[in-house]
Amino acid sequence: MGILLKNADLITDQTRSVQDLRIVEEVIGEVGQNLVPHHDDEIIDAAGMLVIPGGIDPHTHLDLKVMGTVTKDDFASGTKAAAVGGTTTIIDFATPERDQSLLTALDLWRAKADGRAVIDYGLHMAVPRWNERIGTEMETVVDRGVSSFKIFLAYKGTLAVDDTAMYRVMGRAKELGALVMVHAENAEIVWHRQRELLAAGKNAPIDHARSRPPAVEADGTHRAITMARIHDMPLYIVHLSSFDALRCIGDAALSGVDVRVETCPQYLLLDEREYQRPNWEGAKWVMSPPLRTADHRAALWAGIRGGLIGHIGTDHCSFDFVGQKDLYGKDDFTRIPNGIPGIQDRLALIYTYGVLAGSIDLQRWVALCATNPARTFGLYPRKGTLQVGSDADIVLWDPTWEGVLSAKTHLCRNDYHAFEGFSVRGRPHLVLSRGKVIGQDGQFVGAAGAGRFLHRKGL
Ligand code: URP
Ligand code: ZN
Ligand code: ZN
Repeated sequence: MGILLKNADLITDQTRSVQDLRIVEEVIGEVGQNLVPHHDDEIIDAAGMLVIPGGIDPHTHLDLKVMGTVTKDDFASGTKAAAVGGTTTIIDFATPERDQSLLTALDLWRAKADGRAVIDYGLHMAVPRWNERIGTEMETVVDRGVSSFKIFLAYKGTLAVDDTAMYRVMGRAKELGALVMVHAENAEIVWHRQRELLAAGKNAPIDHARSRPPAVEADGTHRAITMARIHDMPLYIVHLSSFDALRCIGDAALSGVDVRVETCPQYLLLDEREYQRPNWEGAKWVMSPPLRTADHRAALWAGIRGGLIGHIGTDHCSFDFVGQKDLYGKDDFTRIPNGIPGIQDRLALIYTYGVLAGSIDLQRWVALCATNPARTFGLYPRKGTLQVGSDADIVLWDPTWEGVLSAKTHLCRNDYHAFEGFSVRGRPHLVLSRGKVIGQDGQFVGAAGAGRFLHRKGL
């Protein structure tokens, strides 16, 4: 039995057209005018909806150990929340302990996700150090469908790599045809500033932002670009947050480096005033890079419109405010687990504050949230588009719905919402994953553990 979507206002990263779309089992079988139903087709009238490819979130952290605790969302709760918000694919980070084998971490992340994820998922591999064995393991990791490696220039003493490791990991990734993603903050400077601030009695959430100013991110971004240039290879910068770092991207683009950039809704819509909230509430937004002053937000939107920033991920990394954020960090901002929730509402936030605000058009919304991540991470055209033969990961977006985001109604497990009280317009009426309806008007209606691992190819 198939599904025939009639009168579908199809939006891709390039086009908009009203057509019919037939789903045959798990894939898109036909797109055209006046398609005639097959005898066993279910017919859905999509009139009034925007029909878009399911969202792809290229940056999530589910079931991750961080600073003495574990993220609140695992692959079951996190992917359910993603699904009702219109995201049908995530790419999470297998993150080894500093001395752990990459292959052990990969097995561990597959075990965390398989049978729990309700939408399809891929993995990136974090690489916290370099040696010859890591170089050998990287090849096996790629063979096993993980074609992107993240290195951290931040987090001294745990995940941060030095220039030698960065140089070697990037060189090896190039040999393997894999993409390197960089968390671009200078760990050494951050470490010194943290010590200085704490010594001066500055231990509050706002001091987290003071310890890692935009220049720290610009330095990391510039260094990563330098390495990519020397290796003559592409590069992906994760969660870019500042004008200063964006300027480095502009320079790189002018000199022909293929640098792909991701930002996140929090950097586009929030600013460092969140850290000043009373009752230590600012800890809810302790993440790295930190929220910036409001002027950076306009720069990031301009970066999107100008094409320098092509990807929007969430960096979803959720903790409870009570019991996790405050576990060790009450008197020391350096001990607050870094990360915020966000996996559910990426499409609605960018639709409301990007498309409806007039900053971007519908096609760019689809490109940022689905098509570009698919292209960059080896999933296109299987995911991220509405072509015949693509997986039937489809969202029927109801542009008339209005609501207010709140922890009272989100499906994430943690006890606060990073965008509490934000009004949004539009949400998925129906979400289909490989032809099955899994989300309907804010409810998850899919099957437990139905998500599949996506074996991804390189660039
Ligand atoms: O604060 C953040 N971003 N936490 C998640 C880990 C990372 O650096 O992406
Ligand atoms: Zn990061
Ligand atoms: Zn992250």
